[in-house]
Amino acid sequence: MRATNAGKQTLGDGQVNVNVSDFYQLRAEPVSKRLARGWHCLGPVRNFDDGEPHLVEAFNTKLVVFRGESGEIAALDNFCPHLGASLAEGRVRGDSVACPFHDWRWGPDGRCTAIPYAKRIPPRAKTRSWTLTVVDQVLYIWHDPEGNPPSPELALPGIEGFETDFTGWDHSVHRIKTNTRELVDNMVDVAHFFYVHGEGVSAGAQYFANVFEGHTAWQFMEMGEQEMSGYDKLKPGFPLEKIDGSRSESAYFGPAYLKSRVISNWGGLLSERYIILGQLPVNENEFDLHMLITVHKTPGLSEAEQKARADQEAQWMRDGTLQDVHIWKTKTRIDNPLLCDGDGPIYQLRRWYEQFFVDAADIKPEMVERFECVTDTGYAMKVWEGQAAERIAELEAIGAVVPGAHRR
Ligand code: FES
Ligand SMILES: [Fe+2]
Repeated sequence: MRATNAGKQTLGDGQVNVNVSDFYQLRAEPVSKRLARGWHCLGPVRNFDDGEPHLVEAFNTKLVVFRGESGEIAALDNFCPHLGASLAEGRVRGDSVACPFHDWRWGPDGRCTAIPYAKRIPPRAKTRSWTLTVVDQVLYIWHDPEGNPPSPELALPGIEGFETDFTGWDHSVHRIKTNTRELVDNMVDVAHFFYVHGEGVSAGAQYFANVFEGHTAWQFMEMGEQEMSGYDKLKPGFPLEKIDGSRSESAYFGPAYLKSRVISNWGGLLSERYIILGQLPVNENEFDLHMLITVHKTPGLSEAEQKARADQEAQWMRDGTLQDVHIWKTKTRIDNPLLCDGDGPIYQLRRWYEQFFVDAADIKPEMVERFECVTDTGYAMKVWEGQAAERIAELEAIGAVVPGAHRR
């Protein structure tokens, strides 16, 4: 490790001495234990259809999630109020979960519904029940350190036509030992698309913009020149049939649900997919990343062809996101990133993200007011073209495979 270069410097006429150093010092406050207010992903609801109780580690505790016989899904604190057994080790009986230790039954609202060996149920026999919702066949759980019910403005948006026009979810979960802010930072990071996802050999982003407002944080990115006449680049909904190259329209709705629409036309092959990245914090230093990918069905393809194409696209998108995961797993958290003119508005994004970690009454106007930023990539694009040409030549000279182009 390098020794500190701190030393004495003389200012002005010589009497004021200050310590200076010639290197940039990274700062990182201890991570707050507080976890975000908002909806958090538990994965496709089909995963809970097996009639078994499921253990979920989240929010510095453990939960049990189960679907009762009448079809209702419930999430309760996992440890039984009787003597603390793990309810996830029990069984579903009717609409309750039966504890494996002494068979007390707990219903979806958290009330004890039966104690088979007792004449009476103690009046205080109620455990915590968590609020759930299902959007596009995915289960989400509400977390609020203040204990308030879900705020309507944080309702999650669905995908239009999901049930009829899109393939079923490709789902994977990745446990990542870091704080969720690392993932959110990505929203403004234009340069990493070339270096990480393009692996230094494929196109960078020709257009890159962010809009933060209220509880949403948008990113709009394009590779290739889009014909945008009569169309607002800072809005989602660009028509697929007009696309040339690719455009992604991605947004956090709340702190832990990122919905990204990626449309592309590479050599006449039109494609539209959505990727949802759902973060479920286990604690402040660890989270599960739920990756959900769905692809717009292509007319004229058989069921099997459809699936093959969707699998291929999902694999491509998953591989791209796993490139980020590798960076997150190996980087450190810093509060004072050192930025250059080619970087996006990371400090503003962090200010937006902060709103989910303070009491609702303490949300400051600057956390939620509209902020727009177009990051100029004109200079960088020329550099990236040169770097890509060099890297490709290097790889070809040693007979190595040049990685696929146009990853997200
Ligand atoms: S610990 Fe659950 S019934 Fe006794
Ligand atoms: Fe990324």
